[in-house]
Amino acid sequence: LAVQKVPPKVLRTKLQLPVKTLMGPGPTNCSKRVLQSLQHQIIGHLHSEVCQLMDEIKAGLQYVFQTKNRLTLALSASGHGGMEACLINLLEPGDTILIVKCGIWGERAADMATRIGANVKLIETEHNKAVTLEQMRTALDRDRPVAVFMVQGESSTGLKQPLDGFGELLHRYNALLIVDVVASLGGEPFFMDSWGVDAAYTGSQKVLGAPPGLTPISFSPLAEQKLFRRKSKPISFYWDLTVLGVYWKCFGEEDRVYHHTISSTLICGLREALAEVAEEGLQAMWIRHAGAAARLRKGLKLRGLQSYVKIPEYQLSTVISIELPPGVDDRIIVQRVMEKYKIEISRGLGPTVGKILRIGLLGQNATSKNVDLVLRALDDGLRQASVSKL
Ligand code: GLV
Repeated sequence: LAVQKVPPKVLRTKLQLPVKTLMGPGPTNCSKRVLQSLQHQIIGHLHSEVCQLMDEIKAGLQYVFQTKNRLTLALSASGHGGMEACLINLLEPGDTILIVKCGIWGERAADMATRIGANVKLIETEHNKAVTLEQMRTALDRDRPVAVFMVQGESSTGLKQPLDGFGELLHRYNALLIVDVVASLGGEPFFMDSWGVDAAYTGSQKVLGAPPGLTPISFSPLAEQKLFRRKSKPISFYWDLTVLGVYWKCFGEEDRVYHHTISSTLICGLREALAEVAEEGLQAMWIRHAGAAARLRKGLKLRGLQSYVKIPEYQLSTVISIELPPGVDDRIIVQRVMEKYKIEISRGLGPTVGKILRIGLLGQNATSKNVDLVLRALDDGLRQASVSKL
């Protein structure tokens, strides 16, 4: 048989990408050290060097999650994979889950849990207000769930959910606490063990500053218990943490057993990103992100722009949401900022589309210099949008 089609011409051009400053809710830019680590030749997913890096990543993740959980690893996935893995492993068909829906991530978790055949109950809040312990207690009395899903950093609204006290409350009702920390881990204080969180996941591409593609996840001993006492196997092999845990040598086994082919390139990137986190220290990172967020909020206030989240306690340091002034087209702002400054800022997402702009301060981009840069670009974007209004 003869080859019919000519090879695509587009593939004969040289690959070229511009450098952009990523100040949306993620991904963020990688440091030089992380980028350099991505240039290593590929090695096998069970070679001793990769296994060693996986052990080092596990130690780094236990530090960033602030946990002693042995079942701590990185999934080959984006943050969505973390959400799905938590729900698929911790829910069986017919189980009741209570989902706090403050924005798009609660909405998505509800969709996934429904597909699993769980009985989904919701606590819905105004999009710029977090849920209180009192509201949670009422919902627990009403629904008696086996698990509760919450989001620490709701990137679609810029809302921070305080978490202190929730784990203790849930455990009194025999419910597990699942927390999405995709947009917050490393930039906001998070204490997995002290706060009684049973399952948490983040994205490598957010504050940690690694490339997208890996999703750190951790399960508490209580979550492990639920996992090993299931009546049925989790519906997905790929997300099954009983087998993934063996690949990551989490249960004290002698040897790892093949589960899937993890990317040694992404493993190198995450290892170096975690090394940088360890060098800076979590406390220093939290302070740096809070400082950058305060500087940005001050700049926005000086320009007469309003935060979408009004209550300071609920304002996230990693994703800052700004109310769109009336009649202003957010698309023009975002486009101008990208075209002229090569800076990414974002429009709203899900329930906030057309209502807000979102600026991310993630990882190495959470600096005064970048805040000043993004404010200058925003001024220009706002000018452009007001000219277009005339
Ligand atoms: C993605 O995480 C987003 O918030 O846009």
